Amino acid sequence: MQYKDMNKVQWIIEHHKLIKEYKEIQRMDLSLNMARGVPGKDQLTLSLPMLDIIHSDSDCRTIDGSDCRNYGVLDGIPECKRIMADMIGVNPTMVMVGGNSSLNMMFDTISCFMNKPVVEGCPAWNEVKDRKFLCPAPGYDRHFGITEYFDFEMIPIQMNDDGPDMDAIEEYVKDPTVKGIWCVPKYSNPQGITYSDEVVRRFARLKPAAKDFRIMWDNAYCIHHLTDHPDELLNIFEECEKAGNSDLPIAFCSTSKITFPGSGVAAMAASPNNMKVIKHKYRFQTIGYDKINMLRHVRFFGDFEGMKAHMEKHREILAPRFELVCNKLEEKLVPLGLVSYRKPNGGYFVCVDVMDGTAKRVVALCKQAGVVLTDAGATYPYKNDPRDSNIRIAPTAPTMKNLRKALDVFCICARLAAIERLLSE
Ligand SMILES: Cc1ncc(COP(=O)(O)O)c(C=O)c1O
Repeated sequence: MQYKDMNKVQWIIEHHKLIKEYKEIQRMDLSLNMARGVPGKDQLTLSLPMLDIIHSDSDCRTIDGSDCRNYGVLDGIPECKRIMADMIGVNPTMVMVGGNSSLNMMFDTISCFMNKPVVEGCPAWNEVKDRKFLCPAPGYDRHFGITEYFDFEMIPIQMNDDGPDMDAIEEYVKDPTVKGIWCVPKYSNPQGITYSDEVVRRFARLKPAAKDFRIMWDNAYCIHHLTDHPDELLNIFEECEKAGNSDLPIAFCSTSKITFPGSGVAAMAASPNNMKVIKHKYRFQTIGYDKINMLRHVRFFGDFEGMKAHMEKHREILAPRFELVCNKLEEKLVPLGLVSYRKPNGGYFVCVDVMDGTAKRVVALCKQAGVVLTDAGATYPYKNDPRDSNIRIAPTAPTMKNLRKALDVFCICARLAAIERLLSE
């Protein structure tokens, strides 16, 4: 029976039962973590051979003869640009390969536009009073961190099943102080949503009042499928070109969750107009990024097909973990009417909505029982989840055994927090 259909006496009985179960878990002295969206140890092992791939002088040469051990090549070695371009779905001429982090490239891009106008005649964003950024929410907390750092007012945009609310976006971009939007268009963090064709086309056709409005298209999970029927995402660059809007998108990706987070290769892609401004900044910032690491990646994968084949091995490891999360929720919380969630087809998270007004309490109860979850609210700008209901579960890092235990704790805490709430009303 769903909790909402029980009477008060039944709630009190359930509460007593749950308190007893909760105390039993606390005595188990658990130390588990479902907060970190990082690959598990078994996934990291998949890429270990990459570290033993370059041995001789000749191994260090790129296809055009550069020695990767030395300075130079600002925008990345050609063979790495090729793979990253295939990943993003653009011509390699549009790509800049960077260092170990796409987030770093996003930060640098915003920082660049703060200081130098991306469109001639527009003021640098630093000079725009009351500058604003659109933030589909729930979303990636570190995106919001960047725009908060640069003093943008962040405007939450509701996420629907097919992507962000385009009606709202089309309205907001009429304001010239709205300078951009954060997007994770495929297997979004945290909901695992892929933007529909219609949403991508509406993005491409946007007519923002600010000529320097930019779409930050963070395609971090573009090949991170969990099933054999992957989602399809329209190519934003092709759609923008058709709409005469080639300068709108700036795309980012990396191999962080393909090889090694923090030791992977990151890349971005943009139109020549955008790249001119961005590369001008990089010329002062660095002589060139880690080409040996780029080369390691190229030799390890061969080409983009090789990279996709490698992702199949990740899928074999990850699919059962996501299956376990969904099965536990279905078994223990859905029949009680306590959660809603979507089963993701890819990505790194399962996004759960618990009873309104209880997310913070669930996270706190889990913590006291030895299970760490992402802070409630973290997936919203200013950490403000208006319904206090959203919790991000990251099932990749724990072993199956630990994940099972952690989910059992989560389910008890979600029930306990709900009963407390119902009894307090
Ligand atoms: C949507 C999204 N973008 C970017 C990153 C970070 O990527 P990188 O390691 O390339 O900086 C993450 C990491 O969790 C992410 O979820």
